[in-house]
Amino acid sequence: MCGIVGYVGDKEALPILMDKLRMLTYRGYDSAGIAVSKNGHFYVRKCKGKVRDLEQIVDEDVGSGTIGIGHTRWATHGPPSTRNAHPHLDCTGHIAVVQNGIVENFWELKQELIEKGHTFQSDTDTEVIAHLVEEYYDDNLTTAVALAMQRMKGSMAVLVMHRDEEDRLVAAKMDSPPLIIGLGRGENHVASDIPALLHYTNKIYVLEDGEIATITRDSVIISNYKEPTKPDRRLYERKVIVVDWSPEVAQKGGYPHYMLKEIHEQPQTVLDTLRGRLPERPDAPIELPDLNVTPEEVAAVERLTFVACGTAYHACLVAKYAFEQALRIPVTVDIGSEYRYRQPIIGPNEWLVAVSQSGETADTIASMREGKERGARLLAITNVVGSSVARLADGVLYTRAGPEVAVASTKAFVGQLVGIFLLLLYMAQYRKVSRKTAKSLQALRAGLWKLPEQIERILNDDGHVKAIAEAIAAHPSAFFIGRNLDEPLAREGALKLKEISYIHAEGYPAGELKHGTLALLDEGVPVVALATQGAVYDKMVSNVQEVLARSAWAIGVVPEGDKRLTELLGEANVLTIPRNHDWLHTVTAAVHVQLIAYYAAAALGRDIDQPRNLAKSVTVE
Ligand code: M6R
Repeated sequence: MCGIVGYVGDKEALPILMDKLRMLTYRGYDSAGIAVSKNGHFYVRKCKGKVRDLEQIVDEDVGSGTIGIGHTRWATHGPPSTRNAHPHLDCTGHIAVVQNGIVENFWELKQELIEKGHTFQSDTDTEVIAHLVEEYYDDNLTTAVALAMQRMKGSMAVLVMHRDEEDRLVAAKMDSPPLIIGLGRGENHVASDIPALLHYTNKIYVLEDGEIATITRDSVIISNYKEPTKPDRRLYERKVIVVDWSPEVAQKGGYPHYMLKEIHEQPQTVLDTLRGRLPERPDAPIELPDLNVTPEEVAAVERLTFVACGTAYHACLVAKYAFEQALRIPVTVDIGSEYRYRQPIIGPNEWLVAVSQSGETADTIASMREGKERGARLLAITNVVGSSVARLADGVLYTRAGPEVAVASTKAFVGQLVGIFLLLLYMAQYRKVSRKTAKSLQALRAGLWKLPEQIERILNDDGHVKAIAEAIAAHPSAFFIGRNLDEPLAREGALKLKEISYIHAEGYPAGELKHGTLALLDEGVPVVALATQGAVYDKMVSNVQEVLARSAWAIGVVPEGDKRLTELLGEANVLTIPRNHDWLHTVTAAVHVQLIAYYAAAALGRDIDQPRNLAKSVTVE
C-alpha cells in the first residue's frame, strides 16, 4: 500500500530515488512522484500512472540535488490523479511530505487548518500532514513533525523534508506501515521495504511504532515523537540488522515476469527453509530455537489459532487439517480482518500463529495485538526478518523464500506450507502421538526433502499445464474443487487465477458443490479437480462425475500412476504430480495451480506482476 523512498548523501538523489521507486512499484502503482531539494528550491514532479510514467516527466533540471523523497501510490483518499499524487506541499511550498497509510482524523484536522487559512490542493489525507508541519514549524523540522504526529490518529509512515534544512529528512512511524532506514557510507536511505535498499546497503534500522528519525548523510537519530519537547534529545539504542538477501534476488533474472521467476525459485525456497532445521537423519531432533518455546510449553498447548490474510490464510487452512489430524490439537483459523472484531476467546495454553509473507499486513498485525491483549502466546511464520509481525511475536519461524516481488504470492506460499509442516514435526516431538501417526510423520519428514527435486520436475515439463491454462483463458469463469488438504488449495488456485487473469474463479470444497454452486456449471465450464489426498480420493471421483454429468470440463490434478480419474478424464485433461506423503501433494499441486494462473494471465496479456487494483503489501485495515 504505497511505497515511500528517501535519500540524503553526496550523490545525485534523482536516479537513486527512481531506482528505489521501481523496486517498490509492487506496493502501489496508480500514481507516482518525487521531490528533490537543491539550493533552497524543490523540484517536484508527479503524475497519474506508474513509475515508468514518472520517468517520462523527470527532466534534467531536477538533476543534481542530493536530497529527496519519492512515492508510488495505491489510492485510499482521492482517486488516482496528478493532484492526488505525492509528494504534497504546504502553503508556502517549503515542506514536502510523502506518506504510506491513513490519517484517520484527517477531515477534522483539515477543517481546523482551513479555518486557520491553509489552502488545500488535493483530496488526500496526506496533505494535512504538510500543513500541520507548516503550522508547527519553528526552525526545527524534527520538532514540527513530532508535534504533527501527536495530532494525528491512524496508521502511517511519513517522510518529510524542508527547503531550509537541506541536510536532513525526517521520518516517523505510527502503528503498522513499515519504514526502513538503510545505512550507507556518507549517505543514508529510506524505503518502505528492504528490496529497494539492497543496491545500496544491507545494513538497516527498522523504525518502530511511535518513533521519529532525523536522517542526515552521516547520522540517524531516533527518538520518540510523543515526547512533547526536544524529541531529538531522547535517543534510542538501535540494533543494526544485517540483511543476507543479495540484490540479484530482487531482479527478474531473464524471466519475463517476477511471478514466473518466483515460481521457479520454489525448489530453493524449500531447501533454504529446511536447511539447518530438519536433520536428514530421521532420529535426530528438530531444533527451532527462534520459536522461543520449551518442550514443556509445547506439551501443554491446548489450542492453536492461525491468523493471516489472502494466500497466507490458505496456508493456515492446510495447517488446520494437518495439525488436528496429527497432533489432535484443536485449531482455529481466522482471517486477519475478522479476528479482532469477533471478540475471540483465548484459552490458557493457546498459541496464536500469525502467517505473513511481508510481515507488514495491517490486519494480521492487528490480530496479533488483539491476541496478545487477550493473553495468547504469539508465534510468527514470516518471510521478512525484522518485519512488524516478527518483532511483535514471542517467537518466529522464518520462511526463507527471499524477496517476493510479484503481487501474486507463490514461493512465499510454498515456504509457508513447509514452515507449517516443520512446526508440526517440531511440536510432535514433545507430544503423545499414536504409532500410526508417528509412522506417517516419519514419511512426512523424509518427503519434505524430496520436494525440491519434485517441484523441479513439474517446472521442467510445463508444456501440458500451459496448454490447459491457455484453454482456460478462453472462458469467463472457472472452478477449483478439492477435499481435505486439497480444499484450501482449491481456494488458492481460484485466488491466483482471479488475481492475475481477472477470470472469475471460485475455490470450493468438492462435496459442497451440490449444495448450490453446481447450478453454475454448464457446457465446457472449466473445473480443476484436485484429487491428491488418498483418504478422500473415491469421494473426489464421485464429485468429478457430478461435474461431468453437467457437461462441464473437468481437469484432474492427481499423483503419478493414477488410474481411475485418468481413465475418466483422458490424459489430455490430467496434470500429474510426483508421489509423496499425501500432505506434501499440496506443495507440488500448488505449482500446477500457480502455473495455470500464470499462463492463463499471460495468454490474456495481463499485467501479471502488478494486477489492477492491488498492491503487494496491504498496510491498511
Ligand atoms: O504479506 P502477507 O502474506 O501478509 O500478505 C497477505 C495477502 O495480502 C497476500 O497473500 C495476497 O493475498 C496475495 N496477493 C495473494 O497472491
